[in-house]
Amino acid sequence: MAAIGAARQRRRAPVPDLAGRACLITGAASGIGRATALAAARRATELLLTDLQAEPLQETAELARLAGARDVRCWAADVSDHDAVLAMARDVHGARPCVDVVMNIAGISIWGPVEQLEHEHWRRQVEVNLMGPISVIEAFIPPMIRAGRRGQLVNVSSSAGLFGLPWHAAYSASKFGLRGVSEVLRFDLRRHGIGVTLVCPGAVDTPLVDTVGIVGVDRTAPDVRELVARFRRHAVSPEHVAEAIIAAVEHNRFLVLTSPDIQLGYWFQRKFALPYELAMRLLNDRLVAVALASREGSAPPAAAPIPGGAGGAAAPAARGEAHDA
Ligand SMILES: NC(=O)c1ccc[n+]([C@@H]2O[C@H](COP(=O)([O-])OP(=O)(O)OC[C@H]3O[C@@H](n4cnc5c(N)ncnc54)[C@H](O)[C@@H]3O)[C@@H](O)[C@H]2O)c1
Repeated sequence: MAAIGAARQRRRAPVPDLAGRACLITGAASGIGRATALAAARRATELLLTDLQAEPLQETAELARLAGARDVRCWAADVSDHDAVLAMARDVHGARPCVDVVMNIAGISIWGPVEQLEHEHWRRQVEVNLMGPISVIEAFIPPMIRAGRRGQLVNVSSSAGLFGLPWHAAYSASKFGLRGVSEVLRFDLRRHGIGVTLVCPGAVDTPLVDTVGIVGVDRTAPDVRELVARFRRHAVSPEHVAEAIIAAVEHNRFLVLTSPDIQLGYWFQRKFALPYELAMRLLNDRLVAVALASREGSAPPAAAPIPGGAGGAAAPAARGEAHDA
């Protein structure tokens, strides 16, 4: 019965099969974005890929061609640069009325206690993780509506778009925002035959795990290293997330929670408000204890670098400072 239901849902999906469809993916140079590009390539999708990092983006393009993509085009661009996104959209729409699938995957992540986060940390995350997808939506969804073709919009948020995780205020500002945009567009775009998918991953084993910016924490301290190792141990692979994203597109699923712990946590949050609050308090105390222990005996940690921001160098992402959680 479940199989019949899934088959029906797939038939009704705006993009039941990615083969031959044009799919725009941001953040395609690394992690979840690259894995999703390759998963789509294996389904003979036509790929329009973009990322801040030009060279790794070209590598993804090469891999995608080898994996079977029907065609691949790349744009090295900063998703937070509205004019750059509009220029890319003009280029894309010069050759076609619209794309079939838009995937907002690019993102950065910096955590820290509110008294240590700098204004630039907040601003940059909102610019990249929220205003970036908004620019992409502005540039690519109206042409999809005008063309009268069915399509799918995918926004990658985070478990930090569902829960009040310790020290995630600036990151959550962007990821809750993207969740809000998705929740509204899910209903607004329905009448145009455009589906919306909101992806909230938990831990994913991407390059970010080693580079996530935690303001005021010595990442070399044993307790912090143990915390990072634990994060990696229960992280799912980017390929797992990619397959979940593709399946969600082909079945027009709205909410995708890619890890069992996040599925359980989300259920728990909605069913048990008080135990959820107590669990979050404990988690918060634990993280602060680890952070304080990391500072003992070590020099005051430097401020977290801001990927692509004022404190960063010219090509921060190339140094592996653009990262996500
Ligand atoms: N890895 C995790 O544990 C995790 C968990 C939850 C959510 N996420 C989200 O998943 C998405 C992908 O993250 P990932 O883990 O694959 O990280 P990643 O660092 O491997 O990939 C992110 C990509 O985004 C690109 N990028 C960063 N800033 C950009 C900008 N201004 N313009 C264009 N491209 C830019 C980077 O160059 C990089 O290629 C992010 O939105 C992140 O917030 C990741």
